[in-house]
Amino acid sequence: MSDWTPDTLPWHRFDRSLVEADLTEVVGGLALVESRADLYGDYLQRVLSRRFAMHPTWSTQIALWTAEEDQHGTALRRWFQLARPDVDVDAALTRYRRDVPYHDDDTTLSVRGSVEHELVCRCVIEALATTLYQALAARAREPVLQLIFKRLAADEARHYRFFFDLLREERRAHGQDLAGSVVAMLRRLRALDDDQIMRASHVASQPADAAYDAAATRGRLLPRVYGSYSEVQLESLARLLGRIVGVDQRRATRMLGAAAGAFLRGRSALLRAMTPVDFGGGVPSYSSWQAA
Ligand SMILES: [Fe+2]
Ligand SMILES: [Fe+2]
Repeated sequence: MSDWTPDTLPWHRFDRSLVEADLTEVVGGLALVESRADLYGDYLQRVLSRRFAMHPTWSTQIALWTAEEDQHGTALRRWFQLARPDVDVDAALTRYRRDVPYHDDDTTLSVRGSVEHELVCRCVIEALATTLYQALAARAREPVLQLIFKRLAADEARHYRFFFDLLREERRAHGQDLAGSVVAMLRRLRALDDDQIMRASHVASQPADAAYDAAATRGRLLPRVYGSYSEVQLESLARLLGRIVGVDQRRATRMLGAAAGAFLRGRSALLRAMTPVDFGGGVPSYSSWQAA
């Protein structure tokens, strides 16, 4: 278990003058996504349960992982509530859990097709979370938020290693399907633009009755998230992703990192070009909620 809790963070150092509106909107989305850890944990326990006889420690380790993810949700929600006192975060979380479904409540089969592919996707998400929080930590100016991002990045890096170990155990015992793993990884990466985080950001930051505009939300938030990544972080992301599918050569991951950087820059430019500057009513300005 990580050596920090939301209660041990230095909340007294919170500095409202360093809160940034766009980053706050991103934090709101991440807070809601991380706050559904119980659902992710339940799902994983169910789809991996067929391996528990062979790997008796998996269930306990997954429960620990779930508790840590839940802690991420609590810390981010607490910070978001300080930054946006005008928002009822608990009500937003209730709406998010009600309106944005996760996987089937009683499925015992992985939606990724196999235990190996489920673990591949888990590693992908932990790799993305690690580098995203590293990137955001480097960008955040508000000191408590910066510290939260650093703590979360360290936890996510540990989660990546944990699931990567499980993936190796699974492959050792049941064989590996590298081609299928590449497909599972690409599908998971492709689904990143899905509604989960964007809708969570919308639910956290906009009034309860505001209509969700997926294109406007993506156009507003994604270029800012993408722009936070440095070349070093992209290369590190490429290295973590490459290792999942057996690509370990330095030169290859460096090229993949450069390609990912070019892709993100191109996509940011496209999103900016496609997004109207005025998002219409229902989107409070930074100053309006800063004053609340
Ligand atoms: Fe997390
Ligand atoms: Fe994680």
